[in-house]
Amino acid sequence: MSRSENKIATSYAIIGFGHIGKALANAFVRKGIEVSVATTRDPESFKSEAAAIGLGIIPTTLAEAVKADVIFLAVRFESHPDVAKALPDWQGKTIVDVTNAYGVSSEKLGGLPSAKFVAQAFTGGKLVKGFNHLIAAILDQDPAVHGGRRVLFLASDDDGALAEIAGIAENLGFAPIKLGGLSEGGLLVQAHGNTWGKLIFQDLIKFD
Ligand SMILES: NC(=O)c1ccc[n+]([C@@H]2O[C@H](COP(=O)([O-])OP(=O)(O)OC[C@H]3O[C@@H](n4cnc5c(N)ncnc54)[C@H](OP(=O)(O)O)[C@@H]3O)[C@@H](O)[C@H]2O)c1
Repeated sequence: MSRSENKIATSYAIIGFGHIGKALANAFVRKGIEVSVATTRDPESFKSEAAAIGLGIIPTTLAEAVKADVIFLAVRFESHPDVAKALPDWQGKTIVDVTNAYGVSSEKLGGLPSAKFVAQAFTGGKLVKGFNHLIAAILDQDPAVHGGRRVLFLASDDDGALAEIAGIAENLGFAPIKLGGLSEGGLLVQAHGNTWGKLIFQDLIKFD
């Protein structure tokens, strides 16, 4: 058996099954990629909502979901420390920070870009900022539009993780744009008050 045949497939989880969690789940369903979803609730309580989106969405507990290789953080910014507590060490995991720190002051972030602040909570993990600039209603739609692919902005301090998530974004049908590190690119796609949304929630499409 070759090394690639021997490799176990990457596993995915979405933490949070609200507007954005469901839109992300839909993107996975569209491409037939299995994904676990978790909230603070008993998975049984959102089983029918998961089934309504499609096959391959597995409602589970937070403790089970964080066993995945790639974890999409689709909770309110304020909830990220609770999710981070689910594991003592996030080594080997890639966390995709989809949160927008609306209304969180720079002082509260210790002067850091919000993604760096989130990264600190996930000790040992590799964090990629992304998927956060599209409103849920847009993220929910098929990214193949008008003969092009909807653009996703990604940033990370880990080049390997950035490439990994760019690959996943491609597999989900998006056109990823790598913006560099969290302090540069991450800051570009960070929520900045009420006007930011109008500037960044654009219908950006890449034509190949
Ligand atoms: N909505 C948008 O258009 C949009 C666009 C871009 C980015 N975002 C960002 O995406 C994030 C999610 O937004 P949303 O609109 O999807 O919020 P939402 O509808 O309020 O959903 C939040 C989800 O997070 C879950 N959750 C909260 N604390 C949790 C915990 N400790 N462990 C596991 N799950 C937990 C909630 O589950 P329970 O039901 O159990 O509480 C709920 O399913 C936010 O950071 C937001 O800024 C949103």
